[in-house]
Amino acid sequence: MTDLLSVIENMPEDTSREHYRKLIDQLNRYARAYYYLDSPEVPDAEYDRLYHELEAIENATGYKDPDAPTRRVGDAVSNDFAPVAHRIRLMSLRDIFNDNELSDFNDRMFEAEGHEVEYCCEPKLDGLAVSLIYEKGVLVRAATRGDGSTGEDITANVKTIKSIPLTLHLASQTGSAKAAVDTAFQAERIPDYLDVRGEVIMPRDGFARWNENARANGQKPFANPRNAAAGSLRQQDSRITATRPLDFYAYYIGECIIDADSSAENAVEGTSSGLPDTQFGRLQYLKSLGLPVNELVEVLNGIEGLRTFYEKTGKTRPDLNYDIDGVVLKINDIATQIEFGATSKAPRWAVAYKFPPEEEMTRLLAVDFQVGRTGAITPVARLQPVYVGGTTISNCTLHNEEEIRRLDIKVGDMVIVRRAGDVIPQIAGVVKDRREGAELSEVVFPASCPECGSALERVGDEAVWRCTGGLFCPKQLSQAIEHFAEREAMDIDGLGGRIVEGMINQGMIKNVADLYVLDEETLSKMTIETPATDTEPAKQRLLGKATAKRIVTNIQESRKRPLNRFVYALGIREVGSSTARLLASYFRTVQELMQATPEQLTAIPNIGNVAARHIIDFFAEEHNRTVIDRLLNEAALELQECPQVSEMNTDDLPYAGKTFVLTGTLEKLKRNEAKELLEKLGARVSGSVSKKVFAVVAGEAAGSKLTKANELGVTVYSEDDLIALLAEHGITV
Ligand code: IVH
Repeated sequence: MTDLLSVIENMPEDTSREHYRKLIDQLNRYARAYYYLDSPEVPDAEYDRLYHELEAIENATGYKDPDAPTRRVGDAVSNDFAPVAHRIRLMSLRDIFNDNELSDFNDRMFEAEGHEVEYCCEPKLDGLAVSLIYEKGVLVRAATRGDGSTGEDITANVKTIKSIPLTLHLASQTGSAKAAVDTAFQAERIPDYLDVRGEVIMPRDGFARWNENARANGQKPFANPRNAAAGSLRQQDSRITATRPLDFYAYYIGECIIDADSSAENAVEGTSSGLPDTQFGRLQYLKSLGLPVNELVEVLNGIEGLRTFYEKTGKTRPDLNYDIDGVVLKINDIATQIEFGATSKAPRWAVAYKFPPEEEMTRLLAVDFQVGRTGAITPVARLQPVYVGGTTISNCTLHNEEEIRRLDIKVGDMVIVRRAGDVIPQIAGVVKDRREGAELSEVVFPASCPECGSALERVGDEAVWRCTGGLFCPKQLSQAIEHFAEREAMDIDGLGGRIVEGMINQGMIKNVADLYVLDEETLSKMTIETPATDTEPAKQRLLGKATAKRIVTNIQESRKRPLNRFVYALGIREVGSSTARLLASYFRTVQELMQATPEQLTAIPNIGNVAARHIIDFFAEEHNRTVIDRLLNEAALELQECPQVSEMNTDDLPYAGKTFVLTGTLEKLKRNEAKELLEKLGARVSGSVSKKVFAVVAGEAAGSKLTKANELGVTVYSEDDLIALLAEHGITV
């Protein structure tokens, strides 16, 4: 073996012996946390980066330390389970990350074959690889991958997974119509010996339920479904595994002897084995034996086929009920696979094309505290920009003080940012082993409002601190005014954050009533700042006559909005647009509403004690009463009446008693418009999917709600279906 010392001289400039050693130690520790402790320390993307750095050093120097993780597949087996020697090694896959690497892979296949190659394209399931041994159709052993040659015996645990058959059955004999119909290759007899490989996963809904439960019972939740699957399979007591929601998909035949008496000729290595001669065919064969095979698997040709599959699968990813972290692309023809062979770790005829990471690591630069419309103080993490989940993230909410404590996060820490699908980015954890000490500083939660200096308070068991300054706090004021002008509220176009802040700072308005007495002349003289660009510094300019005229006109036009919008515009806590509509139709005038008693309010369906309390408190506030008085008298708002509830006769409406859920992005309608229109037909619009829901309307990039609807068999409408439904009842959009 090459001596390390002599190799160091040949290492690239910035590489040192210590660095090489440090990489090995780090990777080995991370691998142990990942494979053995089921509790990863760093995002997969960081592991992959370090691993590739190590590989690059080894390629450049020709040296590979005996302890280097590049020598192994997976991790060593633990002492907790009996070791199982795999008759045929469980291999890993080579990862690729971009289109260039994809082209290289396809070019190599194309050049060797001299023609376009056919691939079996599969999702890369993110769980735990297992090998299942069936002897004469009976599940006799299940083992983890371990180091590839020796795994752990987890038979008892695997037997608790409902989708794994304990005995194989022939689809043709069991009359399983589904398998028989869509299975091109059917097993004619149960094989004497079958080593089938696949992935044990924890579905996303089961994972979410499990974690919710764990949190409620004070147990530690799992970091992600993969860890949950691995942790569940590594239980010493299989009764515990049995309580975990696990699932399985088969993706490969390690070895198959159909008839042990008629020589080794039918072992899997030969094409004359009696098995289908393609990967896809073999998956169908497994399916016909009763083993679950993933439904997204497809056979496609050449580079275009591979690209299409990657793109398409990436788009479906958020809607799946299980995690995938890429696609696996395998040469379909088994004879060609054998020609290509394998390295010591992975086959040459397949690659795993990984999706961009949903978790990344970056540095926490600072924590700012933002004040919301209702005074809530939200800590916001300012991050070194990082590319994760397909976008660059530089800010991320830290929710509240409790979250800061839970994460034990410090300014200067390396943090794990997670952004899955269209979910807002979250800080999933702190990488404690990257703490270098000196540069870290505690996150100090402010003692008073960072905008106005008022005291902060925390009411009841609320997790959030709130500024007690109310509308005297300039930040709460500007946001209250912006809310007043929102589309669903008074719908005043042109009153964005910068303009409103300018109006307040330059003394033009102190509350919403002042908006209606604002004249064009004054407004046109407002100075606004154009933000600095790369080449230009920030500049001050006047708003100008044209813009001022437009804004004043819009303000004046808003005087005739319906009462429900005005009630919503007031920004009373817990009064969203549908509560506002209820209030408006029960009380019919602002004056009536202002005199409502708690009993009258709680008598209205859907209005609880909390909302009633907020409504009463809002109107009890002197300042609010004055502003409303000025709005009605000085600004002379002409609020339009809403039909009285008793006149609405809601029971007669065509969708009375039916609940809809809206999810994803609607293109032609705004969510709120869709909601309003459905409510006109008597429907209720809810945020959560259950069996009782009449239909889920799914727009672009619909996520977990769509998945749940499909699982529960709830009807799913597209946006166009919704528009057609509305049109049937005389509502055109
Ligand atoms: S085939 C010889 N197919 O990815 C072929 N693996 O990084 C070996 N995996 O250990 C694997 N989905 O745990 C294959 N459709 C799929 C897969 C898949 C997920 C996992 C498996 C393997 C790892 C390799």
